[in-house]
Amino acid sequence: MSLLTVSQLEAGYEPGLSIVKGASIHADKGEIVVILGPNGAGKSSLIKAIAGIVPVTGGSVVLDGEDITAVPAHLKIRKGLAFVPQTENVFPLMSVEENLAVAAGVFRGAAAPIEEMFALFPDLARQRRLAAGSLSGGQRQMLACARALIVRPGVLMLDEPSAGLSPKFVEQVFARLVEIRASGVTIVLVEQNARAALAIGDRAYVLVEGREAHEGPAKTLWDDPLIAELYLGHRKEGVQ
Ligand SMILES: Nc1ncnc2c1ncn2[C@@H]1O[C@H](COP(=O)(O)OP(=O)(O)O)[C@@H](O)[C@H]1O
Ligand SMILES: [Mg+2]
Repeated sequence: MSLLTVSQLEAGYEPGLSIVKGASIHADKGEIVVILGPNGAGKSSLIKAIAGIVPVTGGSVVLDGEDITAVPAHLKIRKGLAFVPQTENVFPLMSVEENLAVAAGVFRGAAAPIEEMFALFPDLARQRRLAAGSLSGGQRQMLACARALIVRPGVLMLDEPSAGLSPKFVEQVFARLVEIRASGVTIVLVEQNARAALAIGDRAYVLVEGREAHEGPAKTLWDDPLIAELYLGHRKEGVQ
C-alpha cells in the first residue's frame, strides 16, 4: 500500500465548479513523485486540496492507511503531511532562526531540533541571524523546506520550488530534495521545470484539465515524444 493515496479527488474554489476533476495519484515511501502539466491544469489546486487548503468535494486522501480527506489543514501537518507553497512560504521580517523556531514551536514534542535543520542546510546556518526576506531565492526555498521538515513529515509536498531561480540554484535546491528523499521522506513535487524535475524524480504524472492524463517512470516520460510535444513544451531533441 502506498504511503499517500489520492483517489478520484474533486476540489474547487466555488460551489459547483470543480478545478480538480477526479485526480488519482499515489506516492510510495521514499519516492519523488513529479506532477507536471500545462499552466492552469490544476497542479497547485491539486496539492492544495491534498493539503486541505482548497475545499474537497469528492474522492479521498489516505495517508499511511488513514483517511485524512476531511482533516483540517493544520492537523494534516501533525499527521505527517507537509506542504511548501510556491510563494509567501517564509516570514520575511523574521530571522532564519526565528522562522525555524516558530515552526518548531508550533510542533513542540514532534519537532526536529533547529540545529538538525542547520546541519542539513549549511547555507542557512551561516545566515541564521539574517532576515529571511534578505535571502536569495534559492536560500529562501531551502528555508521553506527546512520549516516544513522540522515537523518530521512522512510526505513533503512542494509547489514549484524552482520558480524564479537561476539554473545554479535550481540545481542546489533539487540536490537537497535528493538528500531529503535519501532520509526516507516521500516527496510530491509540482514543477514547471520538467527536465530538472524528471532528472531527480522516480515517477511522474502529467495533469491535464484537473486530472492525470499520463503516468510513468520519470526517466521514460522525458523521452516520450508524444508527451514531450503535447505537454512539456519541447520536442524530442529539444531543450526546454
Ligand atoms: N484562488 C482561486 N480562486 C479561484 N480560481 C482559482 C484560484 N486559484 C486557481 N484558480 C483557477 O484554477 C485553475 C487551475 O489553477 P492552478 O491550480 O493554479 O493551476 P496550475 O498550478 O497547474 O498552473 C485555473 O483556471 C485558475 O484560474
Ligand atoms: Mg501552479
